[in-house]
Amino acid sequence: MVVTRATSEVADLDHDQLARMAIRVVIENWHGHATVPSRRLYPHQWSWDSAFIALGLQHLAPSRAAVELLSLFGAQWADGRLPHIAFNPAVTDDAYFPGPSFWRSSWLEGHPPIDTSGIIQPPVHAIAARAVMDRLGSSGLDFAARAYPALVGQNSYIRERRTVDGLAVVVHPWETGLDNSPAWDEPLRAVPADLSLFESYTRRDIDHARSSERPTDEDYARYIRLALAYRDAGYDDDWVRSSGEFVVVDPGFNGLWAWSELALAQMARGLGRNPDRHLSEAERITTALVDQLWSGARGIFLARDTRPGVLLGERTVAGLIPLVLPGLPDGIPTALCATLTGPSFCAGQPGVHGVPSFDFTDPRFNSRRYWRGPTWLNTTWLVAEGLRAHGEDALARRLCDDMVALVAGAGFREYFNPRTGSGHGTNNFSWSAALLLHVVAEG
Ligand code: DGY
Repeated sequence: MVVTRATSEVADLDHDQLARMAIRVVIENWHGHATVPSRRLYPHQWSWDSAFIALGLQHLAPSRAAVELLSLFGAQWADGRLPHIAFNPAVTDDAYFPGPSFWRSSWLEGHPPIDTSGIIQPPVHAIAARAVMDRLGSSGLDFAARAYPALVGQNSYIRERRTVDGLAVVVHPWETGLDNSPAWDEPLRAVPADLSLFESYTRRDIDHARSSERPTDEDYARYIRLALAYRDAGYDDDWVRSSGEFVVVDPGFNGLWAWSELALAQMARGLGRNPDRHLSEAERITTALVDQLWSGARGIFLARDTRPGVLLGERTVAGLIPLVLPGLPDGIPTALCATLTGPSFCAGQPGVHGVPSFDFTDPRFNSRRYWRGPTWLNTTWLVAEGLRAHGEDALARRLCDDMVALVAGAGFREYFNPRTGSGHGTNNFSWSAALLLHVVAEG
């Protein structure tokens, strides 16, 4: 594969200076036991954000990375679900919508000691926990002994409460982390967009970011409707799998689920436990992912809408994420690399920064609007990890150089225009800072 070098300035960047700026961002966003993604737009602890943040914090202070993860595990529900937001009681209810009074987690039996949302996010936490365990040295096993049961509980919840045909389903676009991905346009068509909901509820996100860079009001009305329905059903997963209006199998979520089982196997070994059940679970999920979501014709993993039982044709960055799995059958990694470097994503090509979240060739591609095209550092890093898992080190390195160059050019923005490198969304975004620290520290 031909990989062009990133812009020549990359070589001249002062990595130490960038790392110092990144440290300032994660320290300013620390609120005593966890890191907010951003002070104004996301003023609480977000689930998958915390995992990416811990990957960066391990280089600054491994014990702080451990606290970040353990604090999130403190918000775990009795059924094992790790909620997508753990609310900070010191922040007022109206600072973020939907806040604690919307989700009403405290009304439920077996609720955690703090207010949380009731949905989940991609299970990337075991990857971070394994790294933190290794980084902590002699105290790593104490941390692992606390983290491992929570992580096993998280994956058991997914397996027991959230699968259809052996793969995890998401019941809200926010559960995928790629909220307004064009892949969700078709399944969301079945969800009425009732704009009168805004008579009762006020979006807070557009107070802090441009509305042209955020999901539309129509999509937001659908998000509210789906969350209200799940909440009013008591967060009952049997109900949501059979009657929910959005029940989708996402390749990114499932790829990370399988990858997390491999990380759990390593943690189990460190703790002197048998890793076999994690290894066989990773293999089982990988096989199901390939059988159900791989599209040879599209050269990528596709999402599946379980309601009509159809694959969704969109090529999104989520369909590249299963590249992190070392056990993919022959041919698939090569095909994924061809898609990654081909016209849909153009990764590694001159004038393209990182991995765009959506397909350049689709007319819905939008270089500024949230998950409909911009490059995000977390998904770019995940794809780089996948490339490394399959020996594509030059392109992996190029993507990490792109991450550094994006931050050097535009700051610690939430997401970036993949063509121009301009920054969008919120400023001083924690996972952009943390992942910068991580790629710089890992060289
Ligand atoms: C948001 O508020 O935009 C989040 O992505 C939902 O978790």
